[in-house]
This record gives sequence, C-alpha cells and structure tokens, in this order.
Amino acid sequence: FQPKPLAGQHVLITAGPTFEAIDPVRGVTNHSSGKMGFAVARAAAEAGAEVTLVAGPVAQATPRGVCRIDVQSAQQMLAATLQASERATVFIAAAAVADWRPAEFHDHKIKKAVDGQPPTLQFVENPDILATVAQGERARSGQLYCVGFAAESHDLLAHATAKRQRKGIPLLVANIGPTAFGRDDNELLLVDAHGFQALERAPKLVLARKLVAEIARRLKTKE
Ligand code: C5P
Repeated sequence: FQPKPLAGQHVLITAGPTFEAIDPVRGVTNHSSGKMGFAVARAAAEAGAEVTLVAGPVAQATPRGVCRIDVQSAQQMLAATLQASERATVFIAAAAVADWRPAEFHDHKIKKAVDGQPPTLQFVENPDILATVAQGERARSGQLYCVGFAAESHDLLAHATAKRQRKGIPLLVANIGPTAFGRDDNELLLVDAHGFQALERAPKLVLARKLVAEIARRLKTKE
C-alpha cells in the first residue's frame, strides 16, 4: 500500500537553468542540473498528483507519469508556466532562472572584429516567474499553493525569511548554494509563516519526498 497524499492535485514545477541566446550559436546560462526539480516531480507523481514539469535545457530523464514541457529562455519558461498554472493547484519553482538576458538577439553569428575589439553586450532583467505566478488571481484566491526555492551563501534563515515575504509565497525552501548544483544530495530549510524546519543532508529524492509530504500536510490543514 502506497499512500497518495497528493491525489487530486495538479502540481506544476519549473526546473533546470534557462538559456538566454546572444546569437544562433552563443548564449548565457548557469550550472543548474535540474536534479532537485526533477526529483520533486518524481516525488509528486509518486504521491498521486498530476504533474507538469517545465524544464530548461538539462540532461535528466523524464520521471514516469510526468508531463514535460521543454523550454530554453526565461520568457519561454514564463509563458509555459503561466499557461499550465491555470489548471495547477500547486506551483513549485525549482528552476535557476537567469536573472538577465541579452537586450537583443543577433540573427547572425557575431563576427570577430578585425581590430580584435570584443563586442559590448547590453542586458535586461528577466521576469520573475515565481513572483508573477504568486501575484496572479489563482494564487491570491488560495486555489494555487506556491513554493519557492532559494540558494543562499550565508545567513540562510534571515535571507530565506525575507525572500519568502518578498515573493509573497506561503513556503520557501532554502539551501546553501551554489554548492548544491549538480550534487546528488542536499540539505534544506523549510520556511513558512510559522517558522522553519530543517531537513538534514540526504539524497535529493529523499528530500523531495519529504518536501512533498510537507506540502501535502499544509494543503490539508490549509496553513
Ligand atoms: O530571487 P531568487 O532568484 O533568489 O529566487 C529564487 C526563487 O525564485 C526560485 O524558486 C526560482 O525558481 C524563482 N525565480 C523565478 N524567476 C526568476 C528568478 C527566480 O521563478 N526570474
């Protein structure tokens, strides 16, 4: 017998990095492996949820029973997430979205200048996908429970508490980053309106199952 604490729920997850193109052959990205987000997707599906996973460019296998939508840029991730969020009851933002993208996309590969002068790139800020969804009608009316992740290098609790409030979400999951990138294990701090709870170092799938159980418990008690 396997308990299905998320039966009847539709969980939407973002995972992995985004890739912000400069020209047809170059771009800006980061070292997120997508492991944590994919582990959460697997754990949510195991818990009986319908799962939609919006993934940036990663080399991870799609967990069984999970509907995966592949995207490249933050703007594509936002569009896919907003569309899927209309049916979701839980949103977990595990993606390491690039903070900035090149202001313009060059249709042709940028050529090296004959004088050896490197090009100057302008950047613009990317949309905050989590904050956008959290400010939306479904989240504000309590139909969509939003969970964020945060990688902090120091003062984990203080930064996590402030970030939870800034993003306007009920639950924030903090870890010491970016040391967690690409690793198979991690340790987490769950921060909500009542306080915090530490999940000790364990494989990401073990932590993902615990996180899913904590989310299911909060949905039930409507905390
Ligand atoms: O502000 P910071 O990037 O530390 O916030 C991290 C959280 O916000 C993660 O849950 C991440 O997936 C989400 N995020 C997002 N879109 C962004 C930046 C962060 O969804 N542009």
